[in-house]
Amino acid sequence: MDKIIVHGGATLNGSVRISGSKNSALPILAATLLTKEPCIISRVPDLSDIHYMLTLLSELGCEVERASGTVTVKAEKILTEAPYDIVRKMRASVCILGPLLGREKKATVSLPGGCIIGDRPIDIHLKGFEALGAAVLVQAGNVKVLASELRGATINLRSKFGSTVLGTDNVMMAAVLAEGTTVIDGAAEEPEVVDLANFLIKMGAKIEGAGTRRIIIEGVKELHGAEHAVIPDRIEAGTFLIAAAISGKEVTLKRTDPAHLKSLTGPLIQAGLSITSRRDEITIRADGTRRPLELETMPYPGFPTDMQAQMCAMLATTAGISVITENVFPQRYMHVAELKRMGANIELQGSTAIINGVAKLSGAPVMASDLRASAALVLAGLQAEGTTEINRVYHIDRGYESIDEKLNSLGANIERVKV
Ligand code: UD1
Repeated sequence: MDKIIVHGGATLNGSVRISGSKNSALPILAATLLTKEPCIISRVPDLSDIHYMLTLLSELGCEVERASGTVTVKAEKILTEAPYDIVRKMRASVCILGPLLGREKKATVSLPGGCIIGDRPIDIHLKGFEALGAAVLVQAGNVKVLASELRGATINLRSKFGSTVLGTDNVMMAAVLAEGTTVIDGAAEEPEVVDLANFLIKMGAKIEGAGTRRIIIEGVKELHGAEHAVIPDRIEAGTFLIAAAISGKEVTLKRTDPAHLKSLTGPLIQAGLSITSRRDEITIRADGTRRPLELETMPYPGFPTDMQAQMCAMLATTAGISVITENVFPQRYMHVAELKRMGANIELQGSTAIINGVAKLSGAPVMASDLRASAALVLAGLQAEGTTEINRVYHIDRGYESIDEKLNSLGANIERVKV
């Protein structure tokens, strides 16, 4: 198990290229199950979660080829049962349910594992499949969905925490091959849902309204192969923006999409950072002074839950009192205990973190507990006095392509140690 050692105090400067989006690539790769013809997906990031998805597709019988960032999948003959051994490693495996149900009218997948960010049910995905006419059976740790035919329906996918991203993806992927019209109300509006819809449209699906709360899908008989380039990863980009806000002088993100990052750049500007955007680039300038913030996480276009931990790391050393409320995953605060070990002053009151900014954090051995929490610890380490040793970094490798090398290219001093 690798360790990351961050030597604090470096100043970041220069430019960094943003990778393709993990959360887009995963459902898009799953969607290749919808056709027998080959699909070519480019700008696929090199991450362990992507590796699990490609292994899963191979185990299901797909021919999978990968040449640097381009993946070709041909799902000519496929199985409909996913092996537990792979599924347990990645929660996003659940998004093969929709395409398998759409194409083969049946699927069996183990209940998902993945990030430990509280209770993560899939009841709304299953409710959506039932509305399309599938029977759902949860038994011995597996979810089984089965239909003699799928029929379009009007479905509301909103949960008490807002819309569901993978739930919207899953139901959309099943509905593209259903008979008749499906209306998804309360749909997730995330750019990754739009990216998946655009890929499905290239495959011959009829979808309108992706990116709004209502998606309308006209079922078609079959889909064909297509080529698609995955959108830039807005969470990776956001993580680098916060790294620069904490330790930067001037950092430019290249190959990103500024429009997807407004809910983060807005608060950063409010905190006193200078940010300019051009087409696919964002430049952030930091002078070390920041103002505290009051924020709450919301589904897109609100402030993303996937940026909450990194924002906590920044606010931990921002003078004054900041308040963050986590509405999407109310228990997503595993990073707080670790940040406190580094000297942060953070009090949790239910799903709200009250952060009293301190002048300095100090390096300490800390434990990565989930993907974004791990990123927050790296960011905390950048600004800490001394060295921060982050254990269990496999969490960070699930979602960040060479984060240590990319930060080092900007001037950070991070070592990766094989243990
Ligand atoms: C996706 C992202 C994840 C991000 C999250 C919210 C991927 C691979 N992962 O996860 O990085 O943090 O969106 O932006 O794209 N819920 C239910 N029942 C369900 C489904 C969800 O109650 O059937 C609840 C969840 O517990 C959570 C909220 O709805 O409180 C949002 O979850 P959801 O949008 O489904 O997250 P994911 O799609 O799993």
